[in-house]
Parts: sequence; structure tokens; C-alpha cells
Amino acid sequence: MKPTVNLYGDEWSAEIYDYQVQSLEDLPLWQSLAESAGGPVLELACGTGRLVLPLARAGFCVTGLDASRFMLAVARRKLAQEDHEVRARCRLVEGNMSGFTFEEGFDLIYVPARSLQILLTRDEQRSCLECCARHLLPEGLLAIDVFNPMLSKLQARRVEEGPDEFSGTDGTPVKWSAVTEYDLAAHRLSSAWRYGHGNAGGAAAANEYSLEMRYFFRFEMEWMLEACGFAVEALYGNFDRSEFAADSPEMIFVARKTP
Ligand SMILES: C[S@@+](CC[C@H](N)C(=O)[O-])C[C@H]1O[C@@H](n2cnc3c(N)ncnc32)[C@H](O)[C@@H]1O
Repeated sequence: MKPTVNLYGDEWSAEIYDYQVQSLEDLPLWQSLAESAGGPVLELACGTGRLVLPLARAGFCVTGLDASRFMLAVARRKLAQEDHEVRARCRLVEGNMSGFTFEEGFDLIYVPARSLQILLTRDEQRSCLECCARHLLPEGLLAIDVFNPMLSKLQARRVEEGPDEFSGTDGTPVKWSAVTEYDLAAHRLSSAWRYGHGNAGGAAAANEYSLEMRYFFRFEMEWMLEACGFAVEALYGNFDRSEFAADSPEMIFVARKTP
């Protein structure tokens, strides 16, 4: 049976996020884009502030927008521990990336960690990109990371991952596994994530979540960006800016507004 709670939609999944996702391998790319674009910077779907906080520490004025009050609660708690200058450069806002309004414009808007794929409908995707166009300053950059769909996974239709083990919030082991089903007609995937762990009394417990995503192929992304007023300047296949290839894990689009 499908889990009923959406990933990022409760306190437990928000608290475990930073323990599971410890890598910052994508940070140098976003930081170098921020350096070339200048600031201020907007991250859509900023989550627990994994990237917002290091960028603010590096001197950028960063706004992070996220729809989950649970993820933002973690980000705000972490931000409260930063020094005054970092806190002053950072703003965390609850909102939907498919419809947001800020009074000011940004030199860089980025959507990391494949979060654009959480927007399932064409209307949401278009609305998000149009909001980006409205909020980007004339010379600004839009950067979006989505995964490169692997034909082997699509052909399998059903993919099991894990178990992977990591230390949870109290240092005890958490065992993660997932089952993902691909709908090739809808270009969607539906995952059930399971975290096995010990509860406060030490007994075995499990938390289960669902995650629905769209997958995009290269030229759908390019068309969407163009239709929403952007010209694609670069497409990278990974965070080291390597050229996009058939077996690249990521598709990272860097675009500017068309004049
Ligand atoms: C994979 S996490 C990425 C978090 C962060 N960007 C990072 O790189 O660590 C996806 C995030 O997207 C957020 N999210 C999902 N749907 C959203 C929406 N419609 N608008 C804004 N945020 C959304 C979730 O709450 C979650 O924090």
C-alpha cells in the first residue's frame, strides 16, 4: 500500500533530512554561479538550508523559499546559530515555488536537488518558470538541476533501492530503502520511501513516505525554458560542469532571460 504522508510533509522526515543528505558536492557550482551573477540570490525549495547557509556565510544575500514548514523550521533553527552578519544576509520564506512574489529582483535564481521535478503539472511548471522570469534581474542567471532519466530504470518500470544505513538524529542507525515505479505515459515516478529505526524505547519502528515526481528529457526542459522567456546558455551533465552526455547523472541548465 502507498504511504499517505508526503516526503518533507512532517517533522520526522524534515529532521532526518540533514542526516541522510550530507553531501555538499553541488555547492561549488551554485556558489560559482552566484559569484558570476553577483547577488542577491534566490533558492527555490531551499529545504533545511543545506545550500542557503553556506552561501550566506560566503557573503551572499540569500532568500530561501520552501513550501514545507517542517523543513523551514530546521533551516530557521540552524540559522539562529549563525553569527549576526550571516543571519542578516539570509531570509527564509514559506511559499510555493509555482507561485511566488517578492518585491525585489535577483541576480541568480537556482533550483537545486531536482526540486523542480516535484511540480507535477504543466501549469505548475510553467507558472514557476514565469515567476522566475519576473523575478530575475535583466542580466541575471537561472540555474536548474534535474536528473537525467536513465532508460534502464524506465524500462524496468519498478526499481528497488537500498537498504542504505546512516546515523539518525540520536546517533542510532536508520535504514533507508525505496521502491520507485515509473509511469512511462505520464512521465512520472512514484516512490515509497521507508526508514527503519529504533523508537525512543529502542523497539523497531518505521516511517514511510511517498514522493511523486515528473521526469524531463533534455529538449522538454529546453522548450519549457524557451517558452517561458529564457535562452539556455549551458547544459552540464554534473556539478563539475562536465559536458552533458547520454550517461550523465544530472541535467543542469543555466539560462538567461531573452531580451
Ligand atoms: C530535495 S529537497 C531539496 C532541499 C534543498 N534545496 C537542498 O538542496 O537540500 C526538496 C524540497 O522541495 C520542497 N518543495 C516541494 N514542493 C514545493 C513547492 N511546490 N514549492 C516550494 N518548495 C517545495 C520540499 O519541502 C523540500 O524541502
